[in-house]
Amino acid sequence: MTSIDDRVREQYEAYPYPHRDPKEEHKRLVEGSPSDLDEIRHYVFGGRLDLTRPFRALVAGGGTGDAAIMLAQHLATAGAADAEVVYLDLSTASRRIAEARAAERRLTNMRFVTGVIEEVGRVAPGPYDYIDCCGVLHHLASPEAGLQALASQLAPAGGLGLMLYGTYGRSGIYPVQEALAQLVDDLPDTERLAAAHRLLAGLPDTHLLNRNPLVNDHRKGKDAHLYDLLLHRRDRSYRVPELATFLESAGLAPLAWIEPARYAPETYLGDPVLRRRAAALPAIERAALAERLSTAISKHILYAGFAERPGTSPADPGADGTVLVLRGLDPVAVAKGLKVGGALKANIDGAAYHVPLPPLTIAIVSRIDGRRSVGEIRASIESTGTEVPASFAEQVRQVFGAFHGINRMLVRQAG
Ligand SMILES: C[S@@+](CC[C@H](N)C(=O)[O-])C[C@H]1O[C@@H](n2cnc3c(N)ncnc32)[C@H](O)[C@@H]1O
Repeated sequence: MTSIDDRVREQYEAYPYPHRDPKEEHKRLVEGSPSDLDEIRHYVFGGRLDLTRPFRALVAGGGTGDAAIMLAQHLATAGAADAEVVYLDLSTASRRIAEARAAERRLTNMRFVTGVIEEVGRVAPGPYDYIDCCGVLHHLASPEAGLQALASQLAPAGGLGLMLYGTYGRSGIYPVQEALAQLVDDLPDTERLAAAHRLLAGLPDTHLLNRNPLVNDHRKGKDAHLYDLLLHRRDRSYRVPELATFLESAGLAPLAWIEPARYAPETYLGDPVLRRRAAALPAIERAALAERLSTAISKHILYAGFAERPGTSPADPGADGTVLVLRGLDPVAVAKGLKVGGALKANIDGAAYHVPLPPLTIAIVSRIDGRRSVGEIRASIESTGTEVPASFAEQVRQVFGAFHGINRMLVRQAG
């Protein structure tokens, strides 16, 4: 009889995930969280990452290569001469796509391994400074055994970038998975996919899946995505407290949740009394509360490290020596969109994010280029004849806090 492990393997051989065409590497780099190099530097290493020294990363369950390619490209662009990204996946079809993408980009800092996470210590041993495992552990027979295997290859001061499914935000998915399992589990994959299409077409508007605007993999027109969402033989989801217990099982603890404001109860609480009570809760309980108030988190993205890890206090964003990075944003364009006395506004899956900005925001933001230090930004503002007040460092911290909440501003310690 075919085991579930075999079925999962067959799925990823037949439907490598996500669907990617290596030729598209010429047009764009697929970027995201976790595993963006600026994020790793900030969230795992407190802003200090010396890339003149060796840096080893593992992308476990690398799929068609998104995180591995992004990180290898970021490291190459940063001139990290002694960096290596090891890609590990059980699917050879996925590996071929990832390898073709690396070849299109002429990346020479990657190594490809076929094997299972549970055996990482044998097939791709560490220690690693950083391990990415995005959308994989929730498909394992024992997510705990997988996490333990990864943790055993992590350097003591290293970090993990994880994505695991979120229970509330995946509302509607599991009843459809279960219905399809009842109806067509014994049929070949092509027929299961066709059945999924027919079943979706007939679902009432009131079905939880149709009422969940956060889930759209089944609307992308790609079999690999429809399969992964609704026909997977094994997937589970987590709420924040369960995730904390899961991490603890391998001696790990969260370092940061992405985006930070998504996991901050204040994002969802206007009432000052409730905000004060929420502020007094321990960190994990605050994140758990935010998830309950949101119910829109379909994917938990987080960085984690050993609970007993050597301290890496994050660089102070207001300090003269700190370099600020606007992640994925053009500083001049952002500054143009801001108004004096205005606020930073964003939509976090339906929740309004609205943070007032201090008077010097435009002057500060327009000068953030990922190279200038805060001291140099101050000098540049002064050179225009603008008087910089004593509150400058505090204003920088406020600007930082606003953008950081949506994971758009990070720190880097000047090298
Ligand atoms: C949903 S895909 C995610 C791919 C990639 N991490 C991403 O986020 O784009 C899951 C991947 O994990 C791989 N996988 C599943 N179980 C695995 C295991 N036990 N060991 C190694 N890879 C595994 C699958 O082959 C597949 O490529």
